[in-house]
Amino acid sequence: EQIEKGGYEHFMLKEIFEQPKSIHDTMRGRLLVDEGVIKMAGIWDHLERFKNANRIIIIACGTSWHAGLIGEYLIEEYARIPVEVEYASEFRYRNPIITDKDVVIAISQSGETADTMAALKLAKEKGAFIYGICNVVDSSIARITDAGSYTHAGPEIGVASTKAFTAQLTILTLIAFKLGKHNGNLGNAEFMSLIAELDAIPKRVEEVLSSTHEQIQQIAKDFISTTNFLYLGRGYNYPAALEGALKLKEISYIHAEGYPAAEMKHGPIALIDENMPIVIIAPKKGHYDKIVSNVQEIKARKGKIIAVVNKGDRQVSEMADYVIEIPETSECFSPIVASVPLQLLAYYIAVYRGANVDQPRNLAKSVTVE
Ligand code: AGP
Repeated sequence: EQIEKGGYEHFMLKEIFEQPKSIHDTMRGRLLVDEGVIKMAGIWDHLERFKNANRIIIIACGTSWHAGLIGEYLIEEYARIPVEVEYASEFRYRNPIITDKDVVIAISQSGETADTMAALKLAKEKGAFIYGICNVVDSSIARITDAGSYTHAGPEIGVASTKAFTAQLTILTLIAFKLGKHNGNLGNAEFMSLIAELDAIPKRVEEVLSSTHEQIQQIAKDFISTTNFLYLGRGYNYPAALEGALKLKEISYIHAEGYPAAEMKHGPIALIDENMPIVIIAPKKGHYDKIVSNVQEIKARKGKIIAVVNKGDRQVSEMADYVIEIPETSECFSPIVASVPLQLLAYYIAVYRGANVDQPRNLAKSVTVE
């Protein structure tokens, strides 16, 4: 097992550090920047089916559901196809309205999650075209879908999903750009500039890992005894906030909630005092001014602010107690780069609390029961 961990203390840390490679592997052979092409057999063969879809319904659980929410932002922005995102467990039990004009995308690292599988079967029975985004090759979900794209993240052993999540975001980005180009919603110049930026995302992730790793270990030490955390973000980074909170709760057993930052004033703001740490994802591109005023509201209530900002940020940084810098990207890529320090933060808080990071209590890697 020590050999498999490749010198890292836990699989989770190894998998966090593998992300430049796993994102790159997920794009390899699909993103051909010089030719200006995205080649994905699963989508290529069914482009008209996607183009003419009434809507796309994404079904998933847990972290994969968070990836689905970001997929909604991506596909609606670039391909202009309506998207709904559903928990598989809710979808399957509420007699959903599905027709043969719908495309249902299931996202699952393991490809074995019972609720996701059952929801897909239901969608198939009702005539929808079903598409899978799985990491495990030849898994049950991969086998029952009409078509799909694998995330080539490699085996993920840590129960807390890290590299599978960013690989799912990579696939969803490729799908959104591919459909957008095909539909004519994404012009050539914008398409070319976005795919060039996507191609460099593994490098950006590498930079984040090396520039934040030590700093986050220091930050984590200050929160070993904390009992609650809030995670906030807007737009593309609202689901990234949900995912940051899920990572912390599942491995450190600290209660954490993710919220869209603007919803704070509808309830969670009542929780804020000097004992409440708030992780706020605030990149320049992405409602920055609005986030600044959310941070002011937190500051006025003495909340402890851990801000994830772009390099050179001033306004949010001046108010924050801790500043974690990530490189500036187009908004659609920011959840990938912003998630990495949040994974590290959850990891180190959990390690310092003596938790079993790779196998947290009560959790299984693949949930094959209802
Ligand atoms: C992620 O850290 C969790 N352990 C969990 O939420 C997981 O994402 C969920 O069970 C879905 O699994 P799947 O992607 O294999 O379907």
